[in-house]
Amino acid sequence: MTNVRPESMARITTPELAQAFIAEQIAEVRAQVGDKKVLLALSGGVDSSVVAALLIKAIGKQLVCVHVNHGLMRKGESEQVIEVFQNQLDANLIYVDATDRFLDLLAGVADPEEKRKIIGGEFIKVFDEEAAKLEGISFLAQGTIYPDILESIKAKESGKPVKSHHNVGGLPEDMTFELVEPVKFLFKDEVRVVGKELGLPSSMVDRQPFPGPGLGVRCLGAITRDRLHALREADAILREEFVNAGLNKTVWQYFIAIPDIKSVGVRNELRYMGWPAIIRAVNTTDAMSATIEEIPYAVLNKITARITAEVEGINRVLYDLTPKPVGTIEWE
Ligand code: XMP
Repeated sequence: MTNVRPESMARITTPELAQAFIAEQIAEVRAQVGDKKVLLALSGGVDSSVVAALLIKAIGKQLVCVHVNHGLMRKGESEQVIEVFQNQLDANLIYVDATDRFLDLLAGVADPEEKRKIIGGEFIKVFDEEAAKLEGISFLAQGTIYPDILESIKAKESGKPVKSHHNVGGLPEDMTFELVEPVKFLFKDEVRVVGKELGLPSSMVDRQPFPGPGLGVRCLGAITRDRLHALREADAILREEFVNAGLNKTVWQYFIAIPDIKSVGVRNELRYMGWPAIIRAVNTTDAMSATIEEIPYAVLNKITARITAEVEGINRVLYDLTPKPVGTIEWE
């Protein structure tokens, strides 16, 4: 199967183009899948949610959505996936809490590529196991989008990988599923237009993207449970304050990353060693390049005050001013 977007494919910018794309994909998916069953890795992010909605339209209950909580989700995220897909969209949803499995495997692993490969590989194992339990699963659907493919191709050609994306680089070669990737030629902005046309709520379609390896690539270096917990709490505060300030409507992606270093601080007149929380807030249309958003100083102040007061283990807050390139959006 080709991994190059056809030159004749128009950019999907209007409801009409999205409708045409949806009709075409429904036909393609039905032709590919027949009466077989498809497993979908439903992370709850924009890409996999749009794929879920598209596949529910195309093949209904032949789609089995599996939400793996790898312990690297944002605060409240798994609960939201269950609420939206199980309770509201009546999807076939299986929830797997694999937190310990992932975190045990990742213990002591500091290399970003190694972490990505472990998380990607373990994902496939979990799905293999779910498929074995379900019987008759032949396909694995994924929310791969075009920037994932482009970066992986570029990495292969140049021999200098930027990073191997979870959906592309981390898959083991002996995988037993055939892939269904209906949005693999779309850029993020196009996925959102398609999602709206599929009738998904704006809270889901306009949600900022979240990488497959989740907080795993934001808890920098070797992941520990205490630093991961601090990251999750700090990230929840950042997201809450961005919503309060209306910045969720203007900033494409915003999150916290926490490096594996501690600095000296002071709390209650005592020396207090803590991690820094790094704010990343970027704007982009296609994730291939990104600019830094000017965040009002008062908002930064409030976020800093809240994180350092409310999150155990954090004693500094930094704001990353680096555009892409030269930095990537994620830190790993
Ligand atoms: P980078 O860090 O490469 O990120 O500038 C570009 C966009 O892709 C997201 N991202 C990922 N998405 N699997 C995904 O599905 C991944 O492994 C992955 N890594 C990064 C990132 O959040 C940003 O939106």
